[in-house]
Amino acid sequence: MTRLDELLQQEAFTDADIVRLLGLTEPDDCERLRRTAYDLTTRFIGDKVHYRGIVEFSNRCTLNCRYCGIRRDNRDLERYDLNREQIIESAIWAAENHYGSVCLQAGERRDESFVAFVEDCIREIRAGTVSEHLPEGASITLSLGAQSSETYQRWREAGGEAECMRYLLRMETSNPALFSRLHPHDFAHEKAYASRIRALENLRAAGFQVGTGGMIGLPGQTLSDLCADIRFYQRLDVDMLGMGPYILSRGGDMRDEGMLDPGPLLQLALNMLAVCRLVLRDVNIAAATALQVLAEDGREQGIAHGANILMPNITPRAVRRRYQLYDDKPCIDEEPTDCRACLAGRIQRMGRRVGWNEWGCSRHFHRRM
Ligand code: 5AD
Ligand code: FES
Repeated sequence: MTRLDELLQQEAFTDADIVRLLGLTEPDDCERLRRTAYDLTTRFIGDKVHYRGIVEFSNRCTLNCRYCGIRRDNRDLERYDLNREQIIESAIWAAENHYGSVCLQAGERRDESFVAFVEDCIREIRAGTVSEHLPEGASITLSLGAQSSETYQRWREAGGEAECMRYLLRMETSNPALFSRLHPHDFAHEKAYASRIRALENLRAAGFQVGTGGMIGLPGQTLSDLCADIRFYQRLDVDMLGMGPYILSRGGDMRDEGMLDPGPLLQLALNMLAVCRLVLRDVNIAAATALQVLAEDGREQGIAHGANILMPNITPRAVRRRYQLYDDKPCIDEEPTDCRACLAGRIQRMGRRVGWNEWGCSRHFHRRM
């Protein structure tokens, strides 16, 4: 047995172990890491992959994150809002197509009309997705940024049953200096870092299943930073992770800083997924859509490296092009029906099954409740 095989059998890892695993580049070594993560996923979670149909319902945003294509100062973008009927219709389409779960995502806004609008949509979706094959309706993941704890409570309560509500708020990076570089226009950025952590704590207090995550391969980010991200996820005791490679965005403000080459970046992102599975064990991990920018089968590779969640895009085709957080986002010209069939094939090819009509709650959440 080589030293790497011994390391992969461990149940606890030092920072040095984690950095070593994240930095693997030899194909044989990467394959061993992958295989370990895949097998642990089968052991802790099973062989099912769960869908969250994602509706990107508005690209209006009050923030100016430098990496992001829909940031406030991008004037070359036509802004849109789906109306209530369009959002509910998308959610019902997902439920009728046996997706147990939907995700509402939009640019960040905190005004009362937005908060009330979302609250209303949550109620309507919960009631409108009840059916024979989904007797309790769809579960809902919100991905709507840092909000007050009152807002979180309102949204959680609008969902009714506690178990069905999840919230995804990426930390983006746990390194405060890097965080500030990414969000410099937010003049109170030191506060912004602390307030995002507080928001994550508030989400947990409000009763959500809580997800966080970050970008991988950001300019200036080191393997130690990624290791610190994993430690941060451990400390927060999160239920879900959404992480993806950083991709250059023409609408962003970081064009001069470049990005990693696609090959090494993909490997780094996949290593990160696998190491998160080794360290965090029973959390839900999403195979980010951004993986598919780097390789046509990027999301399948994510599943092969320990991800157990996919987020098919169910945004109406007419507005998809205007929600490009990064360049070359896939599925821009596809209809929701195209993605449904396509992704089911992708999952089967990886030896997994789709968990149709199931909420697919985080095992970690169940264990800690
Ligand atoms: N590359 C990769 N991911 C990005 N996101 C935003 N911009 C980019 C980019 N250029 C991710 C952020 C955000 C999520 C909705 O999309 O992590 O939290
Ligand atoms: Fe959208 Fe394959 S996932 S077309």
